[in-house]
Amino acid sequence: MNKDLDAFFERVITVKLPEDRNSIDIIDQTLLPGTIKRINLSTREEIWEAIKKLRVRGAPAIGVSAAYGIAVLANRIHSNDFDAFYVQFKDIKDYLASSRPTAVNLFWALNRMDDTVIANKDKPVAEIKEILFTEAQAIRDEDVAISRGIGEIGFRLMEELKVPGEELGIETHCNAGTLATAKYGTATAPMYIALEHGWEGNDMHVYCDETRPLLQGARLTAFELVNAGITTTVQCDNMASILMKQGKIKIIFVGCDRVAANGDAANKIGTSGLAIIAKHYGVPFYVCAPSSTIDPNTPTGNEIPIEMRDPEEIKSMWYKEPMAPSQAEAFNPAFDVTDHELITGIITEKGLCHAPYDEAFKKLGII
Ligand code: MRU
Repeated sequence: MNKDLDAFFERVITVKLPEDRNSIDIIDQTLLPGTIKRINLSTREEIWEAIKKLRVRGAPAIGVSAAYGIAVLANRIHSNDFDAFYVQFKDIKDYLASSRPTAVNLFWALNRMDDTVIANKDKPVAEIKEILFTEAQAIRDEDVAISRGIGEIGFRLMEELKVPGEELGIETHCNAGTLATAKYGTATAPMYIALEHGWEGNDMHVYCDETRPLLQGARLTAFELVNAGITTTVQCDNMASILMKQGKIKIIFVGCDRVAANGDAANKIGTSGLAIIAKHYGVPFYVCAPSSTIDPNTPTGNEIPIEMRDPEEIKSMWYKEPMAPSQAEAFNPAFDVTDHELITGIITEKGLCHAPYDEAFKKLGII
């Protein structure tokens, strides 16, 4: 990877643990792309608020933040008695778990930290605290490798579609990029891996849905890709159909917040509409899913809890003055579920899955 891109990744790293291990250090994504500012979160309330308000967001990054966060907070518990320590640990875990409901990575990471405590319960509490830091670091490091794995598989799909001398049109929704993970992203990983394999930025052309209402596509994905030197276009979400009708899009990569055992996939609101349009125009639609996002305990998309958010995100946020009458209600689900029938394939770090997804996940040892 070129040095400039590595330096960019380093600069916008979503979450890290400062040397004193007394806080977590995140890039405040609500300020991007205009302001690159890092903030430290020290208390449980600050960590909870940062996840809730999307200062740190994207399923894998939420998981890593929760893991680092609970390690920092557990390190401050003043008891050497395991039972007393564990009561307080559970209290922190339940509190952080209440920040957002849809991305399963949050619960997955917190449960993994909990399992680590239980597996080491016979050790002194001071040692358990150290092990928790090690586990959080492992979750972060694994995420980098997972993104690379997804990227290599996605890149092979891009290569199959690439016509020499022509740019490859790719569409993505929301931000499933470096800002949503520990490094390469999931939906953007194939693009970054393409650069590593020698593609130039103008060998591809990535169309980023702006992603109403919080504009993760325009503010975050376009910001990342432009910095990586990739040809980037931003369009409103309702322009996907004309793009596909004009033949500009050859492949779609999206991320996900939770994949049910049958392959139904929850992702940022608008994803399922994109999949329906893609099916109509015969554009391959891939969901990029770390195996930690595939939830064996959720049989179908109907059981995935969908976060509802503040109506003002639609009615007044981003505008100089409100753009809807105050008396009007606003419907603001943060996610929707794409039916597995609409998905061409689910790319995990362990392999590319096709329907029937439950069998494919079992074969790869994911569920
Ligand atoms: O509400 P957000 O910004 O957290 O939603 C994020 C998404 O929907 C992403 O596509 C998903 O978390 C995958 S990130 C690799």
